[in-house]
Amino acid sequence: MLQKISYCILPVIIGVSFIRQYEANEISEVFFDDEVLTATGIAQKAGYAAESYEVVTQDGYILRLDRITGSKKSPPSENKTAVLLLHGILDASPTWLVEGPEKALGFILADQGYDVWLGNVRGNRYSRKHLTLTISDPDFWNFSWNEMGIYDVPAMIDHITEQTQQPKIFMVSHSQGTTSFFVMASERPEYQEKMIASFALAPVAFLSGIESLLFHVLATFIGDIYSITEALGIYDLEPSNRLMQRIRGKICRDGSPEQLACTSVLEILFGLDEKLNTTLLPLIMQYDPAGASIKQFAHYGQLIQSGKFRKFDYGLAGNMEKYNEKNPPDYNLRNIRLPVYLHYATNDIIADFQDVLELYEVLPNVEKYLVPSDVFAHLDFVWGKDANTLVYNEVLSLMESYRK
Ligand SMILES: *[C@@H]1O[C@H](CO)[C@@H](O)[C@H](O)[C@H]1NC(C)=O
Ligand SMILES: *[C@@H]1O[C@H](CO)[C@@H](O)[C@H](O)[C@H]1NC(C)=O
Repeated sequence: MLQKISYCILPVIIGVSFIRQYEANEISEVFFDDEVLTATGIAQKAGYAAESYEVVTQDGYILRLDRITGSKKSPPSENKTAVLLLHGILDASPTWLVEGPEKALGFILADQGYDVWLGNVRGNRYSRKHLTLTISDPDFWNFSWNEMGIYDVPAMIDHITEQTQQPKIFMVSHSQGTTSFFVMASERPEYQEKMIASFALAPVAFLSGIESLLFHVLATFIGDIYSITEALGIYDLEPSNRLMQRIRGKICRDGSPEQLACTSVLEILFGLDEKLNTTLLPLIMQYDPAGASIKQFAHYGQLIQSGKFRKFDYGLAGNMEKYNEKNPPDYNLRNIRLPVYLHYATNDIIADFQDVLELYEVLPNVEKYLVPSDVFAHLDFVWGKDANTLVYNEVLSLMESYRK
C-alpha cells in the first residue's frame, strides 16, 4: 500500500519541479518588472521606519536581514531592546508583517518600543547568495536547518549586537525557526550569552507525534526521494516565480471560486484551520513558498522516523566517517540554559502537543504556554486571525517582565 503511494507521490514531486524550472526559464521573464515584495517595503508602506542589511555567515552565505527601527508610536532611538524574529520552512521575513499594524507581531513589537529584526535563512527567496557558490552549484544546497542553527542564527545575532551596541537580544521564532534556535543553543551554547530569552512558537524538535498523514508518508520515503532528486540534479524547491505568484494571488483571494483549492492545499499539509485569515493569502502568495533545500525536508523526515532530535543521518558508512558512530548523535538540549518559552496549540498537527511536552521535559529552563483555543493551528502563529490576543500579548508581557 505505502509502496503504491510512493509511486504516485514521486512523479508528482519530480513533475512539479520540472514544470517550475520550465516556467522560471521560459515564461516568467515578462513579469519581472514588478516591484519585489520585501519586509522593508511592507513596513515602509505602513508608515514605519525600516532598512535592510546583508549578513555573511562563517561558511559564506549572504543573508538578508530586515529591520524596523521605529514607528509613529515609538520613534527610532539608540537604546531599544532588539528582537530577532525567525520564520519557518519555505517562509520568509514578510510573514511577521502581513497581518498589518496592530495585528502582526513585527508591527506590535515596533510600536511597543522594540528594535525589530527579521531574519531570512539561507536558500529562501531573499538569501540566495554566497561568497563563492551560486544557486546552480549543488554544494550551495548542501544544508539543512542544522546549518541554519550553526551558522545563520549566530551570524544574525552577531550583526544585531554589533549594530545596536546592545549586549543581549530577544528571539521569537516559528516552526523551523525554533528548530534552528534549538540547534544553535545546543551546538553553540556560547551564543546564549547574547540572548535574554527565546520564544518558540509552534516548537519543532521531536517529531514522532506529527499528525499530518502526508508528512508521515513522505517521511517513510524521504531517503528514497532524497536520493532520486539528487540523482536528477534537483537540490531545492525553488521560490515561486512571478507567474505563479500572480496565478496563486488570483486563485487564493476572497470571493474567488477557486479559493477552496488554495486553502485545501494548506489543509492537506497543515490540517483544518478555521482561524486562518484567508484575506491575507494573495499577499502571502507574493513571497511564499519562498524556497528551501530538499535536505531540510530529508532531515525532518529522519526525525519523524527516528523519534529523536539528532543530526543528519548519512547512513552507516557516512555516519562512521562524519560522527565516528553508527547513528547520528542527538543534539544536546541540556546545553540550553537560556529561559525558553514554548507556545503551542492542541490543534497544531505539525508541532504535536505530545512532542512539545517531551521537549518541555528535557529543557532545563523552560515554561510552556498552551494557546487557549481548540482551533488554533500551525500557521496561525503567524497568519491567524487572533494571534495577537491569543499569543502575542503573552509574549509581550513576558518580554516586559525582563525590562523591569
Ligand atoms: C555535505 O556537507 C557535509 C558536511 O556538512 C559533508 O559531510 C557531505 O559530504 C556533503 N555532501 C555532499 C554531497 O557534498
Ligand atoms: C484579515 O486580514 C485583512 C487584511 O489585512 C484585515 O483587513 C482583516 O481585518 C483581517 N481579519 C481579521 C478577522 O483579523
